[in-house]
Amino acid sequence: MCYNCTPSEDSGQTATSRRTFARFLAAGAGLTVLAACTPEAPGAAAPSSGTPSASPSPSPVTASATPTAEATTAAPPPPEASPAPSPSSALPRQFSLTDPASPWLVVNKHRPLIPADYVPADLVVPAVATTVSGEAALLNSTTAAAAEAMFAAAAGDGVAMVLASGYRSYSTQVVTYNGYVASRGQADADTASARPGYSEHQTGWAFDIADGGGACGFQPCFADQPAAMWAKANGHRFGFVVRYPWMFHPITGYYYEPWHLRYIGVEAATDMAARGIFTLEEYFGVGAAPGYP
Ligand code: DAL
Ligand code: ZN
Repeated sequence: MCYNCTPSEDSGQTATSRRTFARFLAAGAGLTVLAACTPEAPGAAAPSSGTPSASPSPSPVTASATPTAEATTAAPPPPEASPAPSPSSALPRQFSLTDPASPWLVVNKHRPLIPADYVPADLVVPAVATTVSGEAALLNSTTAAAAEAMFAAAAGDGVAMVLASGYRSYSTQVVTYNGYVASRGQADADTASARPGYSEHQTGWAFDIADGGGACGFQPCFADQPAAMWAKANGHRFGFVVRYPWMFHPITGYYYEPWHLRYIGVEAATDMAARGIFTLEEYFGVGAAPGYP
């Protein structure tokens, strides 16, 4: 399945950033130039391929959090080209990068959840508009509170935002991922859906949004919908980042998901935005995770 995922100029990073990174991609880094974006989530508007549809206690930081070089607004260079930036030492708190209950958890194709069948202890139903029910309507308590504040602020700006997929248990992710594999094959599935035990959705720290009218649900064109544009511009004020940004799949391992928001806390999200750092891998200095080892 292939989608044209070239967003309009006002929906992504700067054009310069795109060109810079595209040049890197085209320069023979062994990476595939973007050709596809893939939606996710059970119960969501299905793509044409028939894809199946679905405050923690602070922990001691387990990775170095040292001051970094000067901030930049350009797209980050490839990970191997320069030292990765890391959270500013000026941040008031530091958290674990490995504890699933930590807002700074980095889970990706190189960093599975431990334990694999982790279940958050504080799942709650956020008081926000939603298209889902059951476990998909749950978030951990910190993320739920932040989501409530963000959705209310968006509504205050005249932007309707809807929770389209929240928590997913390990067993739900098994079904979701296997559905993708069945319909697309494993290689393509791995660009859109995390394998069980590797999904942020299992932590309660992440959720997917939809537009009030449901336009472009889980489609690349969602990037140009008001909810996505508002979240991208304002999410950091509430502690959220767009976890899988456009053009960064060689680092994150997933194609652009303008609907997938991840809570990391206001301070860190604002720090990332101010310094023009787009991925958690770079911000927390854990290295790229384009594929499973
Ligand atoms: N779509 C994201 C990567 C997930 O399945 O968690
Ligand atoms: Zn998601």
